[in-house]
Amino acid sequence: MDKERRLIIAGNWKMNKTVAEALDLVNGIKREVASVKEVDIVVCPPFTALSEVSKAILNSNLRLGAQNMNENGYGAFTGEIAAGMLKEFSVRYVILGHSERRQCQKETDQLISKKALAAHGASLKPIVCVGETLAERDGGLTEKVLDTQVRGSLAGLSKAQMEETIIAYEPVWAIGTGKTATAAQAQEAHAFIRRLVGKLFDQNIARRARIQYGGSVKPSNARELMGLPDVDGALVGGASLDDRSFGEIVRNSI
Ligand code: 13P
Repeated sequence: MDKERRLIIAGNWKMNKTVAEALDLVNGIKREVASVKEVDIVVCPPFTALSEVSKAILNSNLRLGAQNMNENGYGAFTGEIAAGMLKEFSVRYVILGHSERRQCQKETDQLISKKALAAHGASLKPIVCVGETLAERDGGLTEKVLDTQVRGSLAGLSKAQMEETIIAYEPVWAIGTGKTATAAQAQEAHAFIRRLVGKLFDQNIARRARIQYGGSVKPSNARELMGLPDVDGALVGGASLDDRSFGEIVRNSI
């Protein structure tokens, strides 16, 4: 595939896997994708497995991501994890503002932008998630919602920081439902987000910005989705919990 932007495929393991299971999974993924050089491949285990998974992927083509972090440095924030703590395990990426956190933890765009700034402060690359609900799509509000979320979640980032930021478009109605956005729906949303990044930053940054698609990505639809002009990778949930499916998604995207 001939794209200017390098694809980035990340597995979001969500609240799954004990340490032993995480090691089984990551070792399987390592085998599945050992020969792949064309794509950035990221695994995002739960915090409790970061240490062991980090050791397991040393000297491999896999990189490590976390699923969340706190917007503050160290201090009295019971139960939270700071960017600096993630760095200890060679974490390179951090998913921010996933729709599950927007819904369950009531994360706002303003909070997500603070987290993105804190991530950059620690040289972590944020994967900033945006996406509309089914009611919003049915109400014709998709672009309005994406506009608000992208503006708000990326607020305050410098151009240099935006260059190191990944956006994940995850329509909420496609997450864990088996329903995937059609190629046309995904392309339209990604092109809209890219145009917006152009307005907020500049055209060169927009041209280089990597925008992942997330929502029921599986081996059977990866090739079509990853082939779309403005889709630059995937954020995979369910199918990333199986080494063979995740490996196939990665290989099918090349
Ligand atoms: P599924 O692939 O299970 O739909 O989840 C997508 C997702 O939320 C990735 O962050």
